Amino acid sequence: MQWKTAISNVNDGQEIIRGYNLHELVENKSFVETVFLIWRGKLPTVKETKMLNAMLTAMIDHGVGVASAMVPRMVASVGNDLHVSVAAGILALGGNKHGGALEGAAKFFQTNVGVSDLEFLLKSLKEKKVRIPGYGHRVLSHDNRTDTLFTVAKETGLYGKHCSFAVTVGEALNKISSKPLPLNMDGANAAILSDMGFDWRIATGFFILGRVPGLIAHTYEEMMSGEGIRRLDESEIEYEGGEI
Ligand SMILES: CC(C)(COP(=O)(O)OP(=O)(O)OC[C@H]1O[C@@H](n2cnc3c(N)ncnc32)[C@H](O)[C@@H]1OP(=O)(O)O)[C@@H](O)C(=O)NCCC(=O)NCCS
Repeated sequence: MQWKTAISNVNDGQEIIRGYNLHELVENKSFVETVFLIWRGKLPTVKETKMLNAMLTAMIDHGVGVASAMVPRMVASVGNDLHVSVAAGILALGGNKHGGALEGAAKFFQTNVGVSDLEFLLKSLKEKKVRIPGYGHRVLSHDNRTDTLFTVAKETGLYGKHCSFAVTVGEALNKISSKPLPLNMDGANAAILSDMGFDWRIATGFFILGRVPGLIAHTYEEMMSGEGIRRLDESEIEYEGGEI
């Protein structure tokens, strides 16, 4: 069986990651720099490192109420191991109304950034009831994480045409929307990743990387809490089926 890979080469006496000696990376580079290297094939600049670090920090957790935090806690509460519970959380975060919006928004920005008639595009998507990933939030009317991330993007010179486009889309979208649709953290991260040159197909990888520490924290807290089995109380369940 023959495999070709440009990622790594490991044999007795030599461990190479993307052309760099693993041991030199261990001694001299941060985890974030090495993530950039292994996903992109080259080491990041100081500014790219700062931006990526900011993005991953912003993703780390957003409360116990979201599906990807609630699910691993439920799974852990019935006695599953940490890796099973965290894997369940990862499975819950890819949906297009949750972390999967990062990939969807990056695809939308990269596909449409040069569009000539944005208003027409947004109106036709609204008629088809298509939601633009990266806009809206169940709880927040404004996502402050977007402001903070764009501040860092401007400081590092990484605020480019996709970030500008994301803001323009937000303004146009809110003119035709029945409720405020803030550019949320996924939308901001999608725009910045696009300006950094990342393909939308790898975007979910960033959300997994950024959020897994939060999922581990929730799972571990649940395992140590002594809470026991979590299940809905009878008072929270309304039976709508037929009677015997
Ligand atoms: C996040 C989200 C699920 C929150 O939904 P919500 O606040 O419960 O909003 P609702 O589902 O009640 O939708 C209310 C209206 O806004 C519209 N809407 C909501 N998000 C929209 C979006 N991103 N693009 C276009 N229209 C949107 C809905 O179509 C609906 O329109 P209508 O009243 O004309 O039927 C929703 O905004 C969404 O799907 N966003 C895109 C995915 C995303 O970015 N997810 C990451 C969240 S951090």
